[in-house]
Amino acid sequence: MRILGIETSCDETAASIVEIKNGKLKVISNVVSSQIKIHRKYGGVVPEVAARNHIKNIIPVIDKALALPSLSIKEVDAIAVTQGPGLICALLIGTETAKTLAYSWNKPIIGVNHITGHIYSNWLENNNPPQFPALALVVSGGHTELVLMKDYCNFKILGQTRDDAVGEAFDKVAKILGLSYPGGPEISKQASRKDVALPHFIKMPRPMINDKNFEFSFSGLKTSVLYQTQKDKNYKERIPDYCASFQQAVIDVLIKKTIKAAEKYKVKSVILAGGVAANKELRKQLGEAVKTSRALGTKASYHIPDLKYTTDNAAMIAAAGYFMNKYKKNINTDWAKIKVDCNLSL
Ligand code: KG4
Ligand code: ZN
Repeated sequence: MRILGIETSCDETAASIVEIKNGKLKVISNVVSSQIKIHRKYGGVVPEVAARNHIKNIIPVIDKALALPSLSIKEVDAIAVTQGPGLICALLIGTETAKTLAYSWNKPIIGVNHITGHIYSNWLENNNPPQFPALALVVSGGHTELVLMKDYCNFKILGQTRDDAVGEAFDKVAKILGLSYPGGPEISKQASRKDVALPHFIKMPRPMINDKNFEFSFSGLKTSVLYQTQKDKNYKERIPDYCASFQQAVIDVLIKKTIKAAEKYKVKSVILAGGVAANKELRKQLGEAVKTSRALGTKASYHIPDLKYTTDNAAMIAAAGYFMNKYKKNINTDWAKIKVDCNLSL
């Protein structure tokens, strides 16, 4: 089976072909046209501008995803497209294109939740995929959630952010520090210029770290960086210190809550997903925490997506489409019934 995935929920126009053979998900092509350079001068994504660029890019990107492996449309069995959550005008370009193709090529179409896509990126090209029950820490520009998965299509949000998402906090703190958009990779780069002892050098709060729930809050941490830099005349000379200290505060909170939830629900796998899953320190430190948790012991496996599947891409959307089509009951595959929902929940 081959699925064409299409993704346009934010500022990446993406198309991919994923082939499923003996239950394994192989990525045949993965084309991503990023608009980062266009939005950088505005310091963040401008929805209208994103939509205009999706219109320009979408057909060439789909063409390329099909042309790279020299596939004809006859060799594609279904189309999976991001339905939400995301920017409404951006989502519309992907879904309307997918619906038009499904109609004219006479293919089934599967509407996909972007967040499940991020989670399913952990099944791509993976011979030892996660086992259920699994706990996913989803950290992206728009979302921060701890999701319990009892089965392929059974998602339960255990907790989420009450204000800023982790990626959003990275982007805003980067802005405060005068770094460019997107802030996550910039902060991570600056933070790695310091050795591991230094993250504690500038005191930062760890919001809600000891609360009994699985909720998060990152706006106070962002404000703490703002106030401290306002008071610190030499802060420009200490950018790596600020970055490392902020990054470590975020990681400490994420790890504490994730391990607590994983232990409580006795999961067999811990999954990291979303754009912030590209963060090297988070990838490393969460893995170490899973390994050293006495309650999880050696029983729980730890999964991180390959770097090219962490930020927005369409291979993860094709993967989610495959699992929904296989395991979800009464799934609608009629192009006329696919609708965009910018607040789509799990
Ligand atoms: O999943 P994604 O591509 O888009 C959304 O669905 O939101 O995530 C983008 C977010 C941005 O906020 C970006 O700053 C963050 O992921 N990000 C990172 C890193 N790479 C990307 N955050 C921290 N460290 C990174 N290395
Ligand atoms: Zn995303």
